[in-house]
Amino acid sequence: MIPNAYRSLHCNAVRPEHIGQTVTLCGWVNSARDHGGVIFIDLRDREGLTQVVFRPEENADVAAQSHVLRDEDVVQIIGKVSARLSGTENSKLPTGEVEVVALELKVLNKSDVLPFHLDRELSNEDMRMKYRYLDLRRERMNKNIRTRHKITNAARNYLDGNGFVEVETPILSNPTPEGARDFLVPARLSPSKFFALPQAPQQYKQLLMVAGLERYFQIARCFRDEDLRADRQPEFTQIDIEASFIEQNDIVNLVEGLLASMFKAGQGVDIPLPFPRMTYQEAMDRYGSDKPDTRYGVEIVDMADVFAESGFKIFRSTLENGGVVRAINAKGFAGITTGQMIRLNELAIQAGMKVKQLAFIKIENGEYKSPLWKFFGEVEQKALVEKMNGEEGDIIFFYAGTWEDACNILGKVRLEIANMMNLTKDSTALNFLWVVDFPLLAFSPEDQSWVAVHHPFTRPKSEDVALLEAGEYGKVRAEAYDVVLNGYELGGGSIRIHESDLQAKMFSVLGVTPEEQELKFSHILEAFKFGAPPHGGLALGLDRIAMLVCGEDSIREVIAFPKNNKACDLMTDSPTNVDFKSLRELYIQSTWKEKKLEAATVPVTPIV
Ligand code: AMO
Repeated sequence: MIPNAYRSLHCNAVRPEHIGQTVTLCGWVNSARDHGGVIFIDLRDREGLTQVVFRPEENADVAAQSHVLRDEDVVQIIGKVSARLSGTENSKLPTGEVEVVALELKVLNKSDVLPFHLDRELSNEDMRMKYRYLDLRRERMNKNIRTRHKITNAARNYLDGNGFVEVETPILSNPTPEGARDFLVPARLSPSKFFALPQAPQQYKQLLMVAGLERYFQIARCFRDEDLRADRQPEFTQIDIEASFIEQNDIVNLVEGLLASMFKAGQGVDIPLPFPRMTYQEAMDRYGSDKPDTRYGVEIVDMADVFAESGFKIFRSTLENGGVVRAINAKGFAGITTGQMIRLNELAIQAGMKVKQLAFIKIENGEYKSPLWKFFGEVEQKALVEKMNGEEGDIIFFYAGTWEDACNILGKVRLEIANMMNLTKDSTALNFLWVVDFPLLAFSPEDQSWVAVHHPFTRPKSEDVALLEAGEYGKVRAEAYDVVLNGYELGGGSIRIHESDLQAKMFSVLGVTPEEQELKFSHILEAFKFGAPPHGGLALGLDRIAMLVCGEDSIREVIAFPKNNKACDLMTDSPTNVDFKSLRELYIQSTWKEKKLEAATVPVTPIV
């Protein structure tokens, strides 16, 4: 920090080499203690703490003045650095061998009593959000925000060093289909029309490739109106990348180097490169997830060969009807409590399980405890135990049903078992992984239509274009890739479609009529007719990377002013009502009150 009239040193810089020197410090009173008329304060600035002592024998006026000091007052102190008395050093503080004997004190601003203690963890998150500017004074939060800055800086430098040009793209724009709901902004100058806030700068970055920029990046704010989770915010930041004349491997190498530079800057660690790669199919089969946490096993095992002829009818008929029977072994977890079992079953039901309980076998005291066991023949029992490596103390869970349900249900059960068994507690492993060969399309039973697994601009694998033409949509693989760390999707991207006719074909498979294509996507379809180069890219979730670098488990801990879990900012009390006049200027009328009234007056059918 550059010295100025307020300070000659920051609070964490005072060392024995300064003994005898007069220094000027400023900051907040972290704590004040009165030791028999001698006042000690820990003075804090963003770098750390220094002990300041007000001794009446050194300067009686200043010592008298110091009695008014209270926690969080902002002060400036001029004083002499001295060695602490022998036995009073504090080895926990970098400045713990010295103290500053105050010669002058200037109170720059008094503080009211804070609504909470900064040195105690506060479980009331709403309180933290309401007073976020105080919450951010805590050492942990200060460190997180500064670590985020460091990794963002590392990303910028790395991309700049690789020839990428930073370009800002509009915030007021057209909807971009990324799978979430849009935030809409009324356009006063175009009555009854709306802008959408970008879910991602996807189309703009592709248009920059048509513009010949070749290598683009942006630390881009994105907005998605979707249900919130610990790793999701309605506004978040992507490190958005796009390049021309590039293949999947080039992007993979570039992003591995980028992540390595960010983790080096944030954690000082060297991540081993390259990252392992796994196909989507394998990730789903083994882990039931396209973002598998590979720090532990508890893998899903296909039991088709064991149960093909099973005496247990449900398993056999599921297999005969084209379904799957899959199992996971929670090793050493036979002591699962009733509460934990209930929780696992609830989770499985939420994930789509039709029955009330997961089938299981416990191996306890040499016995196989399960209502199912008696239905299995001897050969089957032996094969099952062998395949699942069943040992004393294990519990094996089974699911029979469709492949999709088995992946989804056992994938969630696996995560919860790992959680219950504390399998990742204290783990410092960084299990990076690429998931590749995603399907291009998935059938949505709710919409009764095909939807893009990534987004509509993703390129089908060239060897699968014939399948697309043939209408075998479920079999087409995409040139798409996700980068995953410890079960979190850090980023996703793809090689894009750059031909107008293929893009139009993709839209029509997705049910976008030619009229809608003209209305919503004519800019990109037309641009692709004017010499669009082959291109591709990826976007990394900066908040998620910062969260993992900082060892946090919510992105709210690495965002200065996040929204709470209801997507509200409690500090500024937004979103807020607007007055009738403002709405009228925008040609907008709120129907919320009428809707509420309507809902309240709908007759309720009595329960008989
Ligand atoms: P995608 O939708 O996969 O891809 O987003 C890229 C990454 O952004 C992060 N992310 C989020 N982080 C916090 N809160 C959210 N609500 C949220 N949503 C997404 C994730 C995710 O991996 N345009 C494409 C990228 C491309 O194809 O180049 C896109 O946005 O870490």
